[in-house]
Amino acid sequence: MTSHAQTIDRLHHAIQHFNPSDPQNLQDFLALLRQTHRDLEGPGAYLSRVRFEPLNNMCQLMAIETGLIGAIVGSYPRPITTAELEEQTGQGHGFIARIMRLLAAHGVVDETDVETYRSNPICEKLNTPGEEGATRNMVELMFPIASKLVPQLRAPGGLSEFGDKPGNVTPFAAAYGGQSMFEFLETHAYHKAAFDQFMASRKAGVRKPWCEIVDLTRREMVDPQSVYVVDVAGGKGHDLLEFRRRFPGSPGRLVLQDLPETFVDLEGEEMEGVELMPHDMFLEQPVRGARYYVFSAVLHDWSDERCRRILERTATAMEPGYSRVLIHDMVLKDKGEGLRGASLDVAMLMMPGGKERTLSAIEKLLAEAGLRVVRLWPGVPGGESVVEAELVDGSAKSGS
Ligand SMILES: C[S@@+](CC[C@H](N)C(=O)[O-])C[C@H]1O[C@@H](n2cnc3c(N)ncnc32)[C@H](O)[C@@H]1O
Repeated sequence: MTSHAQTIDRLHHAIQHFNPSDPQNLQDFLALLRQTHRDLEGPGAYLSRVRFEPLNNMCQLMAIETGLIGAIVGSYPRPITTAELEEQTGQGHGFIARIMRLLAAHGVVDETDVETYRSNPICEKLNTPGEEGATRNMVELMFPIASKLVPQLRAPGGLSEFGDKPGNVTPFAAAYGGQSMFEFLETHAYHKAAFDQFMASRKAGVRKPWCEIVDLTRREMVDPQSVYVVDVAGGKGHDLLEFRRRFPGSPGRLVLQDLPETFVDLEGEEMEGVELMPHDMFLEQPVRGARYYVFSAVLHDWSDERCRRILERTATAMEPGYSRVLIHDMVLKDKGEGLRGASLDVAMLMMPGGKERTLSAIEKLLAEAGLRVVRLWPGVPGGESVVEAELVDGSAKSGS
């Protein structure tokens, strides 16, 4: 067992070598801070603290929904009192004070005086549509699943990782009348809007867009009329728009595919240069011979069996020696995966019934669809990477 003195020595050593401009050093340092916190508080306090953490999410959602967060951010830099918040939001004094006490204790807002609060960078970020969507998605869509886990684990057949086979019940299906997450979202516009807002916002932190990870400086397009990128299941097109922003005037067409309901309200100038193509990725890929078929946060939503089907559909549309598949997902370590990768994997188990994968698991999937890895483009430590793949029997035409 590590003594407090040893724990502090270890921290002291890490502080001396702290280099926040080195992403790996920063991730290691943050992991050590979490370990130090655990070691110093002890097992009982650790378990008790972690058990209460969902309340932070719940209070954040209540503060968003009632307008407390908007009012605090709106008042910045002036702190705002509970009495003023009561007047602005119409909520009761006691209710506001209790929610704000917890949010202040978590550092979501600053408490500058008795029942007086000021926005800080976390509060400001929480007041954006993406963070609002993410919070709604977690509390309103994921939390209800928790209450169904034990009954389903005790039921005949238990819980299934994937919903592929008849009779399989995933955590999501157990809580939502047997539906998969995407089936549910198709008919629940409120949750779909929150989900899409969340997906479009994941730019901050260690998740980098695929076009920032892959070296695209050699954009060897031969024919500007041909398709350069198909973003398969690309949501509302945030990644393609980011690509267009980074590489203005890049030759070749940009095609955005997703389910029709994702494209609702998606028109106009903002999408200029991006072709919207409603498409079910389990059906034949209509765009043939594109340079890149991108799957960003897509394969992790599905079982191996479904991923194989998606990749096979893609492989048949690819031009040998030219087309590439880009898989933008976590690439899990065989051992010692960080908290984010491990959490995303379990979130995939709970919500779409998918999984995050190791490189060897991705290689196996690709091989079964007649593809092979050309290169692994590592992302920021703790973030998503990109696996680039080509047809196995393609003779090199453009080089890499
Ligand atoms: C986790 S989101 C990722 C979206 C986007 N690629 C990103 O990185 O933000 C998964 C996307 O898959 C889409 N999707 C689900 N089933 C699909 C299907 N059968 N065909 C095409 N898209 C599908 C959803 O609508 C959603 O936009």
